[in-house]
Amino acid sequence: RQAVTPESRNLVRVFRLSQAARKELPPDVTSHRQPVNRMGVIGAGVMGGAIAELAAAHDIPVVLKDIDQDALDSGLRHAGDLLRKAAAARVFSEEEASLKFALITGTLEYDDFEGADLVVEAVVERMAVKQQVLREAEASADGAVLATNTSALSVDEMASGVKRPGSVIGLHFFNPVHKMPLVEVIAGPRTSPEALATGFGLVLALGKTPVLVADRPGFLVIRLLAPYLNEAGFLLEEGASIEAIDGALESFGMPMGPLRLLDEIGFDVARHASREMAAAFGERMRPSGVLDRMIEDARLGRKNGLGFHRYQDGGDRGADPTVPRLLSREEATGPGAARSSLPAEEIQRRCLYIMVNEAAYALEEQVVEGPGPVDLAMVMGTGFPPFRGGLLRWADAEDIRKIHDALSEYAGRLGNRFAPAPLLVRMAQQNRTFTDLN
Ligand code: NAI
Repeated sequence: RQAVTPESRNLVRVFRLSQAARKELPPDVTSHRQPVNRMGVIGAGVMGGAIAELAAAHDIPVVLKDIDQDALDSGLRHAGDLLRKAAAARVFSEEEASLKFALITGTLEYDDFEGADLVVEAVVERMAVKQQVLREAEASADGAVLATNTSALSVDEMASGVKRPGSVIGLHFFNPVHKMPLVEVIAGPRTSPEALATGFGLVLALGKTPVLVADRPGFLVIRLLAPYLNEAGFLLEEGASIEAIDGALESFGMPMGPLRLLDEIGFDVARHASREMAAAFGERMRPSGVLDRMIEDARLGRKNGLGFHRYQDGGDRGADPTVPRLLSREEATGPGAARSSLPAEEIQRRCLYIMVNEAAYALEEQVVEGPGPVDLAMVMGTGFPPFRGGLLRWADAEDIRKIHDALSEYAGRLGNRFAPAPLLVRMAQQNRTFTDLN
């Protein structure tokens, strides 16, 4: 007889969830799906270039548009590099790579969008600009589905800027696009079944895992990451070391610790997102002072070589020893050494329990269909360790009452941000798990 460990059961569950995700739309919606034979991408930056590459890699002709020739050139270069890397990794041959690259047309003109079945915008994260480019795309690609790769802006508000709001949908890709399997698919209240089925179908055709998410601030993944990353900031302010914080979450199984992740995201982008989350959800998302301090000190994360870690020649040179002094609330007395030595378990609990709590709020708001999609999205969108079965499966194994009691204790000692969500309180009282909410 074979021993079935909880880890292998969890892996099977994640696999089943990803299979089920492919069939999440009901047949009466799926029947409206139109094939995407030609695509447009607006904005040739980090995301636009990579989305164009993804389309070409899957043999979909794509027109990549920017307003700036240099940006366009760099987006095309980025796409070309990714295709060459895929060839080097023998995903396809060199010859196929150049044929695929030939499917990408760079342009500064909207006229080239004619005949596109779907246009996705990936321009700067500003509502007015996004509404403008979708309006322009609508005028030249008549009848196309208009998708936005916004990180957190309202899809419905964006739709109010165009003539056919029903054609607007959110397709939230994750960075780096070629590696991250998740795409959050956001249908606003006015999104038509055609737009939804076509956008969802495109995600599948691109080999990604779609998760349907409501049009709420931060959708799902950014919303859950916000308190997690923020808690790492509070821990730093209290004097825990960079190594202790990241090490605790890495030993839990996260692909990188929260501070390293902030380095990758970039502090300007992360601060923008965290302010949006605080504006939407109030006190429990109030940002720590850490990102402000880092930015005041001209640190932006990996992109300028100065994050919580130092970077040189593309390599990580390890935690920056000057950071703790920069960030500690009290005047530094020592040589920037850690003043707090919280056990790894306490660091894990604070960062992870607060994320579980936010998931309870999101579930109650029906941001996703249930705990399954939360688990899948966290594994596919953040690299949450699959052997733990996802955030909420892990929470069940950890014990909901224990999480509830710890949150209450933290709320009294550390701040109201930890106050247990109403759903979690009910679950603890009734001795229920996320699994049996299904
Ligand atoms: P980026 O700054 O690298 O690229 C934006 C590009 O849009 C630039 O090349 C710019 O020249 C171009 N652009 C600006 N206005 C334009 C216009 N009117 N018409 C055509 N092109 C225009 O930005 P990035 O990082 O690629 O982000 C794009 C969008 O994707 C944002 O909404 C962002 O929130 C979202 N996003 C970003 C992720 C990331 O990790 N970078 C992850 C997921 C979503």
